[in-house]
Amino acid sequence: MIERCKFYDGWILKTQNTWYVISISESGALHNIYWGPSLHAEEDIPLPQFLIPSSFDGEKGYLPLEYPEWGGYLFSVPCVKITFPDGNRKTLLKYKCSELGKDAYGNDQLIITLVDGYYNIRVVLNYVVYENFDIIERFVEIFNEGTDYVILDIAHSASWNLPLNRDYRLTYCHGNWAREFNIKHIPIHEGKFVIESRKGHTSHDFNPWFMLDDLNRNATEESGEVWFGALAYSGNWKILVEKTPFGLTKAVGGINDFDSIFKLKPTKWFRNPSFFGGYTNKGFGQASRNLHNLQRKYVFPYNFKNTLRKVLYNSWEATMFNVNEEDQIKLAEKAASIGVELFVIDDGWFGARNNDRAGLGDWRVNPQKFPKGLGPLIEKVNSLGMDFGIWVEPEMVNEDSDLYRNHSDWVMRFPKCKPEKGRNQWNLNVAKPEVADFIFNSVDALLSNYNIKFIKWDMNKAITDPGWIEFENDRRKEIWIRYTWNLYEIFDRLRNKHPHVMFETCSGGGGRVDLGILHRTDQFWTSDNTNPYDRLIIQEGCSYVYSAKSMVAWVTDSGQFDLKYRFHSAMMGVLGIGANLHKWSENDFKLAKAMIEEYKKIRHIVQDGDLYRLISPQRSDFAAIQYVSRDKKESVIFCFRTTTHFGKCSIEIFPRGLEPTEMYSGKGLIGEISGKGIMDGGLKVQLPKDFSSEMLYFEAKKR
Ligand code: GLA
Repeated sequence: MIERCKFYDGWILKTQNTWYVISISESGALHNIYWGPSLHAEEDIPLPQFLIPSSFDGEKGYLPLEYPEWGGYLFSVPCVKITFPDGNRKTLLKYKCSELGKDAYGNDQLIITLVDGYYNIRVVLNYVVYENFDIIERFVEIFNEGTDYVILDIAHSASWNLPLNRDYRLTYCHGNWAREFNIKHIPIHEGKFVIESRKGHTSHDFNPWFMLDDLNRNATEESGEVWFGALAYSGNWKILVEKTPFGLTKAVGGINDFDSIFKLKPTKWFRNPSFFGGYTNKGFGQASRNLHNLQRKYVFPYNFKNTLRKVLYNSWEATMFNVNEEDQIKLAEKAASIGVELFVIDDGWFGARNNDRAGLGDWRVNPQKFPKGLGPLIEKVNSLGMDFGIWVEPEMVNEDSDLYRNHSDWVMRFPKCKPEKGRNQWNLNVAKPEVADFIFNSVDALLSNYNIKFIKWDMNKAITDPGWIEFENDRRKEIWIRYTWNLYEIFDRLRNKHPHVMFETCSGGGGRVDLGILHRTDQFWTSDNTNPYDRLIIQEGCSYVYSAKSMVAWVTDSGQFDLKYRFHSAMMGVLGIGANLHKWSENDFKLAKAMIEEYKKIRHIVQDGDLYRLISPQRSDFAAIQYVSRDKKESVIFCFRTTTHFGKCSIEIFPRGLEPTEMYSGKGLIGEISGKGIMDGGLKVQLPKDFSSEMLYFEAKKR
């Protein structure tokens, strides 16, 4: 709900449990005066801070501005900075008007227009309120209504301002290839802390979200105040957390301004990516659950958001580039025998792709490996009762490819230096319309010619040479933004034309996971690291923001782990099998079949339920993750042990999220126990061996 605030001239954005209050200052500046738990009355909003300005600081310096523009007394991080052709670089935004409306889903939306005092620039701030999830979406549109172009040097999505004069702790994630989503907590002191990508994709290094809690009150998984935000963007992004000398802590973020500008021509407008922000006083766990719910209800593409994800098989780790019709059919038969529902052929099926040195760009079926095209394999897969999926990496080219021989000018490069290769490949300049069309046409042809139901879309090299020789000289730095926009448009076009096809985003594992790509893809490949123990840590970090319904996890041959342990680790997301089935024993097949059957019975709880991180694998020798169905009638808990110390063979867990008065029974409980009894009294789980695991399942008694 959005209401006018009379006490302070402005608006109150109300969600189920929070208020977010925006006010217009006397000078016409827009600032945030409250973001926290719902209040009883407007009068309870804490008084804004008024400092005595000196000639060194002014109002702009200490007001928690909603969308601070650079110019005048703004010395902290701006959201917007514009250069005008006459040399002016100062912007002065003032409130002009507002409008209340609804978004496409019927959520309340507030649209506030700010205008520049001297130039014909209109900046429109949009706020969409997701009441049930205590989350607000913000994005901004900038209109050039003048007669000359302007340069957008910075055009971030939002400044999230936290209550003043408090010390905060930042939670974020960092990593690199095969080591994604490591959680870190650090205190925020006066100064700035930046997480970002300059690699052209979301990157493995950092992921675009933040969580902030009060350093002196340390939030836990289930208690304490947490302010959080997640940016929906898959190109170069940046989130900067700043504490100013005036006691304001703010998280500003959006498209990275590093090496990036956008020339906005007269009558044109620019929309930046959505930045979702929320508040909870129920700890990090609730912040995550709210984000998962948002993702499932509003972020996922509409086609499959209410569909449970299928169990897939992918032979990449088993066969690498060595794919052919005969062998894939044998694997498909084995996969079908254990209950796999989607058979995906990975890298190696196209062009001259026998290794990573050739073929990228030539999206034609390799005639030696598949003499009659993909038809016979797909028919076989379908006759075994499975859907067929395929891997592509269309943003890249190998030097040894027909595409490069015909279109060497499509490679992203600077005028003189040879572009750098990674994995023997170069980046195509997807910012170029003809390259974007080529990519669309290549994938469209595949989808039109074959009964393909699933695309795994990969991107295996960071952008190292973002040059665009053929473009107007003063607009070449638009390449970063135009690349991402075109990529999004390709997905939108493909999804429109092929609505029955599901897409998985992959970038050497979890290098392109964010709410922007997840608006266009249904799931993501979490990491190329499939070690089931490492995965516990990676998946836990991933769960801070992303729902299990999008997180793909395979059972592979990585490491010396029991098959059961490998299954349990992978059953905590979208289950896939990536092992070499030719090497499995009869017993392995038997167990796998039973585990997949079990997964199918509980996957609605894992994929659509509420997730509770009971014991973190990062902080102990155990790990326990619980999922509770939305109606609280069923729950499943995965428990893992790393090492057994001093003969202690059981662990104690305290499940959460159950209905206190319901009576539950099932695996892991002795007899019937009330929800309250389970949550207060805890459960003992026997895990007698190193690297052992258990899955508990219980349900409420039917009345
Ligand atoms: C990337 C992906 C893998 C696999 C290979 C194929 O590394 O993350 O899953 O698809 O590419 O080359």
